[in-house]
Order: sequence, then structure tokens, then C-alpha cells
Amino acid sequence: MSASAALPNDPQTTIRAIAEAIAPHLIEIRRDIHAHPELAFQEVRTSGVVARELAALGIAHRTGVGRTGVVGLIEGGRPGPVLAIRADMDALPIHEQTGLPFASETAGLMHACGHDVHTSTLLGVAAVLQKLAPQLAGTVKLVFQPAEETLGGAAAMIADGVMEGPHVDLALGFHNHPEMPVGRFGFVRGACLAASDRFDIVVRGKSGHAAHPNGAVDPIVAAAALVSQLQTVVSREVNPMHPVVVTVGAIHGGTVHNIIPDEVLLRGTVRTLDKPAQAIAEAAIRRLCEGVESGMRVRCEIAYEHGVPALVNEAGVLERSVASVRAQLGDVVSEGVPSLGGEDFALFAERVPAFQLRIGSAQPGRADKLHNSAYQPDEACIGLGVQALARAAYDLLG
Ligand code: NI
Repeated sequence: MSASAALPNDPQTTIRAIAEAIAPHLIEIRRDIHAHPELAFQEVRTSGVVARELAALGIAHRTGVGRTGVVGLIEGGRPGPVLAIRADMDALPIHEQTGLPFASETAGLMHACGHDVHTSTLLGVAAVLQKLAPQLAGTVKLVFQPAEETLGGAAAMIADGVMEGPHVDLALGFHNHPEMPVGRFGFVRGACLAASDRFDIVVRGKSGHAAHPNGAVDPIVAAAALVSQLQTVVSREVNPMHPVVVTVGAIHGGTVHNIIPDEVLLRGTVRTLDKPAQAIAEAAIRRLCEGVESGMRVRCEIAYEHGVPALVNEAGVLERSVASVRAQLGDVVSEGVPSLGGEDFALFAERVPAFQLRIGSAQPGRADKLHNSAYQPDEACIGLGVQALARAAYDLLG
């Protein structure tokens, strides 16, 4: 076809032309997925849409990877590395309040994190790179992942072999970012999202009459002391230059006014950007539990679970990708600050050099937030995201 004849000399014009031509179709796909949100590992309809679109593009693909994931493969014209580009597909248990004509048709479920935008963006990247395939030195692996919100999808796809056959050498991820206006892009050097650990602590005492506390061991007073002491992990134990969050998000114990209960349950999360801080926080929490045990006669049973690791951008892939976005779209990229949210693209980034691009998605005049029932990303971020990611892939496999 005539457009690809001009490719090697001017990727910018070619990528822009293809992306602009398919943008209306990508918006249709996004609205269709938006109207039909599906929770983690239930993305059956969504992965069907993905498979249908990949088939229409003539891209070989495999469904059912990590349960509801889809993997497409674009072979370049020359040998080279294998680049995985990952989008997540799942929605959230939120009741949509946008009033949009294509709002969720399923009560209580909504694409409030923009994974509908991600899915359609990666389909656009697929369309562009399929056309550019003869010019690529290497292979593009399109990874449509389930269950990001529950942080189980990446692990499921990796267990199902997504990093092999062919072996992945580097990876790109992306997320829409309503803190930035549409048209802008962002990056963070090093760790950009946090390791997310969690704990359940059962504080066991001895029940008794509220009027005779000396005959009981009060787990409520001990749990209250522990909640306060846990605040010292951040304020007194870890280096203040290393961001850490310790949050107790649930506390359950007791039933009525006049009974001291047997036990209190605390549940919390620990967010860290580096492994030393992660280890210090866990050790401190265990030590504070021991202190409350000996000081207040309770027993503390701790279930401490390590979740996804911190998402660390690799400098080489980051610098090359940012340069590509600038070459494609101009001076639209700025450095941002890390967030203590978690994201399971971290599991890909733990295995191969990787970079996650932030794609500005704020509509002019709106101040949207992710995971909000009124979230309305600017759909222009889809076509622009396609240009940015396709150009980064084109250059990484140049
Ligand atoms: Ni998300």
C-alpha cells in the first residue's frame, strides 16, 4: 500500500496518518467496552472484542492466556528483540454516574480506571505496527491482560507462559492519567509505583465483664495502642527520603457496651518504593506487635503478605521511549513524581527492562480522578496514545 512506501524515511507522518484514520473506530471500540464492563477474570466479552479486532487486522493471537487474557504477535521483517506491550482490560465494582449515552449497561460495574481506553489504545497500536511490520527488526507481543485491579492478572499470564514463546526481551506499559491534560505525557525515573504488602493482625486477649477489667485482658486497648505505634514506622523508622505508607484500613472487635471481647482484628496495607524500606517496615511492625504482647499481655497473630513489587522503570527503555514520544508529538512529555499506588505491570518490569508511560487524559475544564464514578477521560488520549506507543515500539525495534 502506498502509505507504507514512505515509511522508513518518515515514521512520524506515517504513524500519525494511520492513527488519525483509525481513531474513530478505536473510539467506537472504547465506547462498546465501556458500556459492557467486566470484573477481574470475567473479561469474556472484552477479550472476544480484542480477538475479533486482532483477527480483522490479520494478527495471529492466542486467547485464554491467564484465564481471560489475549496475546497477539506481530513479526517484524527482520530479526530482533521481542517487545511486549501490555494493556489491562478489567473494570471496577463502581456504579457509574456519568450519564453518558454509552454508560455502563451493568449496574454496579464501571470502567472507572480507563482500562477500556487502554484496551482500545493497544488495538490501535496493533493496527499501526501491523502496517509497519516489514520495517520492524524484532517482534511485538501484544498483551491484553485481565485482572489488574485485583493484582492477579499479570501473575496469571506469566504463569501461563506469556513471557516465553517467543521469549520477551523488553516491555512497555501505559496508564491514562487524569492529573495531566490530554495531549501531555509523563514519566518517572526509577520506581514509579509502590510495592503493596498487607497484613492481618489478630490481637488476642481474654474476655470478661467491662466492670471488672482486672479479670480480663483487654484486646481493644492493646489494639488501639498498636494502631498508634504503627504510625511510628513511617515517622521514626524509615529514612524520610524514602516514601512509605502504613495504613490500618479496618479494625473489628467487640459487640456490646459491657463486655471486653476476646480479640480484635486489624487489617492494613504497607506501600514502599524500595526493598530496604519494605524490609524495615515489616520488621518494625512485627517488633511493635511483640512489644504490645509483652507490655499488655495480649497475643498478636500476624499474617503478613507481600503483594506486587514496586514498578521500576529501566533507564534505557525509559529514555529511548521518551525520546520517541517527543519525536512523534513534540515537546509534550514531562517528568512526574512516583505514586504509592500499586500496579501488576511491576511483575513484567521485574523480569525484563520496562517502562510505563503516563498518558494525559483530562478533559479541558474537568478535574477527574481515577476510580471515581463520574470519571470521563478525554477520548483524544486514545489516538495520541497510539501514536506515542507505536512510535516508541517502532524505534525500540529500529
Ligand atoms: Ni488502572
